[in-house]
Amino acid sequence: MRVAILGSGRGSNAEALLRAQAEGRLGKARIIGIWSDLPGAGILDLGPRHGVPATHLDPGPFRTKFSPEREAAWAEALKAAGAELVVLAGFMRVVKEPLLSAFPRRIINLHPTLLPAFPGLDGIGQTWRSGAPEGGCTVHWVTAAIDAGAHLGQARVPRLPGDTPESFAARVHEAEHRLLPEVVARLAESPLP
Ligand code: GAR
Repeated sequence: MRVAILGSGRGSNAEALLRAQAEGRLGKARIIGIWSDLPGAGILDLGPRHGVPATHLDPGPFRTKFSPEREAAWAEALKAAGAELVVLAGFMRVVKEPLLSAFPRRIINLHPTLLPAFPGLDGIGQTWRSGAPEGGCTVHWVTAAIDAGAHLGQARVPRLPGDTPESFAARVHEAEHRLLPEVVARLAESPLP
């Protein structure tokens, strides 16, 4: 299963996927490239380090969504690369049409909370400030409704005595780095419905 990774940030989850692949933990999944909407994103540095193509593609003039014509160009680029599964790993832009229909039930997202709790931006901060006894992370199918598609996996992260926002966030990220490769490997095991 040919996997495209889309991200806007430092790329620690993309790196977890690349490491899992190198260690034989990604099953039949093969990472074919990384695409970022931000030219300076750290995730793009992973390409040369791990021997996969890493490409900045213009998303258009908006901050949190694509322009319609640029979203079509992204869909074409991912199709041309032969992507079969699109993984949003810290991709901070809403995915809509035409990308959704170019990859129907083929786009997954990682979110740093126990959805449906705390969708949207700064999920870890939202969880921490709420005082909830636990947080975690979720991998789910991407649909037109933000952070609301069916869940593919979740990992729980308890808030520990003495935790700080930083220590709690670090454990959420560790949980993400385990969960995302597990879900991708599982999806690659059998043909997607
Ligand atoms: C991750 O914590 C991911 O869950 C979050 O961005 C971070 C990316 O980190 N995504 C969202 O908040 C999406 N709404 P990374 O660039 O180090 O993988």
